Amino acid sequence: MFEGLQALPQDPILGLMLKFRDDTNPDKLDLGVGVYKDEQGNTPIMAAVHAAEAQLLTSETTKTYIGPAGSELFNQRSRELVFGSDRSVIKDNRIASAQTPGGCGALRMAAEFIRGCSTDSKVWVSTPTWANHIPLLGGAGVPLKEYPYYDYDQKSIQFDAMMATLEQATKGDYLLLHGCCHNPSGADLNRDQWQAVAELCSRKGIIPFIDMAYQGLGNGIDEDAHGVRLLADTVPEMLVATSCSKNFGLYRERTGTLFVVAGNAQQAAIAGSQLFNKIRGHYSMPPSHGAAIVETILSDNALTQQWQDELQVMRERIQWLRDTLVERITAAGVERDFNFIRQQYGMFSFLGITAEQVAQLQQDYSIYMVDSSRMNVAGLNTDRMDYFVSALAEVLHR
Ligand code: LMR
Repeated sequence: MFEGLQALPQDPILGLMLKFRDDTNPDKLDLGVGVYKDEQGNTPIMAAVHAAEAQLLTSETTKTYIGPAGSELFNQRSRELVFGSDRSVIKDNRIASAQTPGGCGALRMAAEFIRGCSTDSKVWVSTPTWANHIPLLGGAGVPLKEYPYYDYDQKSIQFDAMMATLEQATKGDYLLLHGCCHNPSGADLNRDQWQAVAELCSRKGIIPFIDMAYQGLGNGIDEDAHGVRLLADTVPEMLVATSCSKNFGLYRERTGTLFVVAGNAQQAAIAGSQLFNKIRGHYSMPPSHGAAIVETILSDNALTQQWQDELQVMRERIQWLRDTLVERITAAGVERDFNFIRQQYGMFSFLGITAEQVAQLQQDYSIYMVDSSRMNVAGLNTDRMDYFVSALAEVLHR
C-alpha cells in the first residue's frame, strides 16, 4: 500500500527552518518562519511566562483530563483580551469559546464548524494569505474563494477591488480577515476600511471570520483588536481564531482559542455544543500547559503588567527595525523605494524582489526568506542589518 505513495514537497515556510538548520555558513540569517528574535538573535522565553511557569510548578495539583473546551478560566481571560472585558458581546454570553492547540487548531476547528453548519457556505480568503490557511480550511472540505487584497505594485491594500469582489459573496458565506499584522503582507485595514467591511458584512449577511495571530505586535493590544471589536458590535455572528504563539512567545506550547459569536446566549450554547463535538472527534481536548501559563499571567495584575511591558518592547523593536532597515537601504544607495516597510505592521513585509533574487540571497548569502519575498522583519538585529542590506543591494544591482 505505502509503496505507491509519492513524496510531497516541504512546507514553504517550515521547510525553510530545516534548510536553515542544515546550512553551515556562520553568516546565515533566518528571515523565514515568523518568530520574534531579540538583538542577540534568540527567541527568548518571556519573563512573565517564566514567572507563571514557576508558580504553576508549585500550584498545579492535577493533570487530569480537561475536556474539549479546555480551561474555562483561560477562555474567559482570552475572551476579555480579544473582545474587551466591558463589551456587551461578553456580558450577554454570546460567545462560545474553546481553548485550541494553537491558532492552527482554532482555524481547523472553525472550518469543521463551518462545514457542520452548512455545506454551501464558502470562505473568502485574501490574495495573498498565510500559506497554511489553504490546507487548514480547504482540508476540512470548505469551498474557498479569493478576494484581491495586496497590490504588489502599489505596496498597499487594493481596497476597492477587494470590496467589489466581495459583492459576489452571498448570505452565509464567511469572510476571512487578518485581525492585525496581515500575514504575509503587513498591510492592515485602517479604521475607515474596517467600518466599510463591517457595513458590507451586515448588509449582505456575510459572517466575519477573523484570524488574530499577532494581537499586540502591531499598534497595541487594544488598537490591534479594533476590527474584531467593531465587528462584534455590528454583526450577530462571527468566528475569531487567536494564537498565543507570538504575543506570549508560546510557539511550541500550541496555545490558541476559537470563539464562535452567536446572536444570543442560547444560540451560543448550541453552537458551543456543535463545536465541542467536532473537537472531541478530532483531538478530543487541547494540551494544557500553554493555556495554564496564559491564564496565570492574565489573572495576576503584576504578571499582566510585566507581560504587557515585554510585549511593548517587542512591538517597538519591530517598528524600530522597520525604520532602521529602510534608512540603511537608502544609505546604501539603493534607488528603489522601500518606504512602504515603515507603513506596515507586525513581523512581515514583502520585499518585492523576484523569486530568483530570493534564491540568490539564499544561495550566495545564506539569507532565508519565503519565495514570495515575505521577510520576517523581526528576524533582523543591529549586527546583521548591514550584512542583509549589502546582500540585498548587491542582488538588486546584478
Ligand atoms: C509564519 O507564518 O511564518 C508562522 O505563522 C509560522 C507558521 O506556522 O507558518
